[in-house]
Amino acid sequence: MKKECVLVAGGAGYIGSHTTVELIEAGYDVVIADNLSNSEMRAVEGVRKITGVDVPFVQVDCCDKEAFRQLFEQYTFDSAIHFAASKAVGESVEKPMLYYRNNLLSLMNLVELMHEYGRHHLVFSSSCTVYGEPDKQPVTELTPRKEATSPYGNTKQISEDILRDTVKAWPEMKAIALRYFNPIGAHPSALIGELPRGVPQNLVPYVTQTAAGIRKCLSVFGDDYPTPDGSCIRDYIDVTDLAKAHVKAIDRMVGGKNKAGYEVFNVGTGRGVSVLELVKGFERVNGVKLNYKIAPRRAGDIIAIWADPTLANEELGWRAERTLDETLASAWRWQQSLK
Ligand code: NAD
Ligand code: WQD
Repeated sequence: MKKECVLVAGGAGYIGSHTTVELIEAGYDVVIADNLSNSEMRAVEGVRKITGVDVPFVQVDCCDKEAFRQLFEQYTFDSAIHFAASKAVGESVEKPMLYYRNNLLSLMNLVELMHEYGRHHLVFSSSCTVYGEPDKQPVTELTPRKEATSPYGNTKQISEDILRDTVKAWPEMKAIALRYFNPIGAHPSALIGELPRGVPQNLVPYVTQTAAGIRKCLSVFGDDYPTPDGSCIRDYIDVTDLAKAHVKAIDRMVGGKNKAGYEVFNVGTGRGVSVLELVKGFERVNGVKLNYKIAPRRAGDIIAIWADPTLANEELGWRAERTLDETLASAWRWQQSLK
């Protein structure tokens, strides 16, 4: 029987590469499209090594519709996942046009080409950033979205709206938006992981680079928040667990199990972890001492957010399986493999 094929746009990136591995292990064929604007071919090579499959890779900018069209001419697939976006919140404040153009145009081109070529199932990378600072924890999919505080966050809200409106107009199209909480860690093989460019903005890459001696000292941004230990709380989700949620979302659409044309799921563990808990957990699990200091609050940080993942548990049959300790160990193994 011919296998279903999935187009993974942005598949050379952090989450896309891990998702490609899980799709292949679940029996899907994959074609990766990426312009390598924030990734390297080593991720694709890592995926090929892990899976033993010579996954096709097409270097293309999804914002270039005619170039993207060539891929639709060349490959047959029924489903696609859109990871192809820029993701640095701070940069998006400085360069809003870059973010609106890249994140929205790449998605609109993908959706229009899928419609034109009769490809009907789309999974979209959304973010817990759409909830802003929630009034109540944990957040469910019914928790109201708050006004976005960055152009990046706004692109996620607008993208969700684009999909909601499009499936209404084109009922044969089905879309699932996955709202990721904070993805961390690396594949257990340490052949793929996060490859931040320049100084990491996110906590875990900063932690691993500090442990490796690349950064001198980790700043813990704020210990005077109204939380049990004063540091901010997040829901850190293992990247392989997150990748598996995409497989479940594709399975759902391929199996015709959607309850609506457009659906939204939180992808988190349901566990809130503070910055200081994470730092101390990293030290304990990996037997390393981290040089860190308490620093002033970072502008724009929300105090606390964690997911209620019940809907994904029940409807997608997905749940986070890895412990935070396992994930922090995988992040450190990956960092060490980069030496
Ligand atoms: P990433 O930067 O590692 O991966 C994105 C990939 O898309 C990169 O390989 C990049 O080269 C590619 N890309 C970007 N624009 C493109 C374009 N126009 N055409 C072709 N390829 C393009 O980021 P990631 O962490 O893997 O994130 C993937 C998605 O998940 C993004 O949409 C991001 O906004 C979303 N997301 C990420 C996080 C996170 O913390 N990592 C959290 C929530 C949501
Ligand atoms: C986590 C916690 C920091 C670095 C961002 C985006 C969000 C989503 C995920 C895409 C916070 C603290 C961090 C450091 C620290 N991305 N921290 N020292 O801010 O929750 O979310 O990535 O959609 O949209 O905003 O993640 O990893 O940057 O921070 O103390 O050097 O770690 O203050 O409390 P964040 P993060």
